[in-house]
Amino acid sequence: MTVLKYSLDEFVHDMSDLMEGPADQEKLFDKGSSYLERLINSPDAIPDEFRNPSGNSNHGSYLLHYGDNGLLVTAVVWGAGDHLGPHDHRTWGMIGVMDNAITETRYRRVDDRDRDGFAILEKDRVTVVKPGDISLLIPEVDEIHQMDNHTDRSTVEIHVYGHDLRGLERSKFDLETGKISHFATKKFNNC
Ligand SMILES: [Fe+2]
Repeated sequence: MTVLKYSLDEFVHDMSDLMEGPADQEKLFDKGSSYLERLINSPDAIPDEFRNPSGNSNHGSYLLHYGDNGLLVTAVVWGAGDHLGPHDHRTWGMIGVMDNAITETRYRRVDDRDRDGFAILEKDRVTVVKPGDISLLIPEVDEIHQMDNHTDRSTVEIHVYGHDLRGLERSKFDLETGKISHFATKKFNNC
């Protein structure tokens, strides 16, 4: 992994410039991932306080930036053994691993969506995402995942979204029963 010096401010500036241009998801992911790659390869870009689980919990979720253009940047920490079942995002997103690794299981929805509150998911792929790697969330197309930290130490990620997650109604899926439950992020640990 190459060590770079790219700051959060520079990242926000470059991403905001990109979002000002014509809406083109391919370009956004293409250039956006190259910026995020620089950020996650810059160890000094994120303060230590955002690289550890919050309080006595095994998880941390910290707001790093939110702008009028909808750009949301957070640091997410998964403690050893941490797990989050399948859920969606309802906005484009990019997740870059900064430290350690996360096992990401992607699912695709295969039912015909005619039953309220019910979905059938099929496992699509399992990826161990490592430092410097980025995974993309594409609304409606490829955005349902489960996260597991199968290692014995914390994993640090930077998440970038095109919409504030606070109050955004999303879905989580029960693989056994097919039940869909709605949820929304209420707050982050630092605000
Ligand atoms: Fe997620």
